[in-house]
Amino acid sequence: MASALNPLLDAVEAPPVALVQSWTAGRNFPEDRPLLDLAQAAPGWPMATDLAQHAATKLMEPEAGRYQPILGTSALRAALANETNRVYGASVKAEETAITSGCNQAYVVAIMALARAGDQVILPAPWYFNHKMTLDMLGIEAAMLPCRPENAMVPDPDAAARLITPRTRAIVLVTPNNPTGAIYPAAILQAFHDLAAARGLALIVDETYRDFIPSEGPPHALLRDPAWSETVVQLYSFSKAYAMPGLRVGAVVAGAPTIAAIQKALDSIAICACQPGQAAALYGLERLGSWRRERAAEMQARLAAFREAMAPLADRFPIISAGGFFAYCRHPFGDDAMAAAKRLADEAAIMAMPGSAFGPGQERAIRFAFGNIAPERARLAVERLQAMT
Ligand SMILES: Cc1ncc(COP(=O)(O)O)c(C=O)c1O
Repeated sequence: MASALNPLLDAVEAPPVALVQSWTAGRNFPEDRPLLDLAQAAPGWPMATDLAQHAATKLMEPEAGRYQPILGTSALRAALANETNRVYGASVKAEETAITSGCNQAYVVAIMALARAGDQVILPAPWYFNHKMTLDMLGIEAAMLPCRPENAMVPDPDAAARLITPRTRAIVLVTPNNPTGAIYPAAILQAFHDLAAARGLALIVDETYRDFIPSEGPPHALLRDPAWSETVVQLYSFSKAYAMPGLRVGAVVAGAPTIAAIQKALDSIAICACQPGQAAALYGLERLGSWRRERAAEMQARLAAFREAMAPLADRFPIISAGGFFAYCRHPFGDDAMAAAKRLADEAAIMAMPGSAFGPGQERAIRFAFGNIAPERARLAVERLQAMT
C-alpha cells in the first residue's frame, strides 16, 4: 500500500512556472516565429565571461569539492556586509549575514527561523507564489493583504495593522515586486517597519531585484536604524543581478539570533551553498559593479521599449504596474487567467504567467517578465498580442 503523503505538501499548488513551460515543451517553433519566453524571470544575457572564468578556475581547486562553512565563506559574508553597507549606508556586520543556495532558500530558512505551524504571516497579494507555497507546506497561515491598482500596487501599512492577531509573526514585502514590478517608496517601507517593530513582528524584505531600481541612493533607511536587527530580515539574490540563477546563491541579512536559528535550518537542508557559486558571487560583488549597472540600464531600456510597444494595446492589455523585471497587465480574455495564458502559448507562442498563480482575485491579470527579452522581441510579442482576437 502506498504511504500517505504529508497533507500539507500534498495541498500545495503545483509549481506554476513548470506548468506554463509544459504548454510549449516539445513543440517546434520555426525560426521566423520563435517562442517568446516571458514566463520565468531569467536575465536575457549570459553571465559576465570573467565571472564564469573565475568560477571555473575555482572549480578546479581542491577546496571546491569540500563542504564550506554552513553560513557561507567568510570572504563572501564580509563582502556582502560591505556591499549592504555601501548601498544602504548601514553598518551590518559579516556575522549578521548568511549565504544560502538562492533567495528562495533564504526565504524558507527565514520563515523556519521565525514561525511555526499554526502561526500567521502577512503576505501582500498578488504574492510571489513560492512565498505562499512555503507557508502552506509549513502549516503557516498566509494573511492576505490585498494590493490595489489605485495605490500603484503598493501595500497599505494601516490595512496590514488590521490583519495582526496574536498568531502573527512576520510581514513579508518584496520590492521591486514580483509579480507587479512595483517599487515601494522608502516611507512605506519605514511605516511597515514601525508597525512591525511596535507589534513585535519581523519584517522580511525580499530585495531580489534591488539592483534594477533606476534611482540613485539607498532604496530605504531600515538598515540604518540602530535597532534594525530586532525587526528587519533582508533577503537577497545573486541570480538576477549577476545573471547566474543556475549557480544558486542568495543571502540573508538579519540579527545574530535569527542567523543562529537559520544556521540550524541550513545545516539540515543543504549544509552549505556550493563553492564555485560563492566564488562567483564574491567576484561579482568585488569586480562587477559597473557590469551590474550597465545591465540595470539595459533593463530600463527594456522596460521603456515594452511600455512603448504596449501603448497601442492600452485598451486591451493595460499595464497595471511595471518595474524591476516585470509588467503586470490586464488581459482581455475573461475571468480565467490560466485559460488566457494558455491561449497566449497556443496561439501566439508567448509564455507568460497567469495572474491566478499569484493569489486569489487575479483572474484578469497576466505577468510578463519583459526583462527576459530584448526590445525587438518585445515589439514582436506585442504584434502577436495585437493579432489575437
Ligand atoms: C521575489 C523573488 N524572490 C526570490 C526569487 C528566487 O531567487 P533565487 O534564484 O535566488 O532563488 C525570485 C525569483 O524569481 C523572486 O522573484
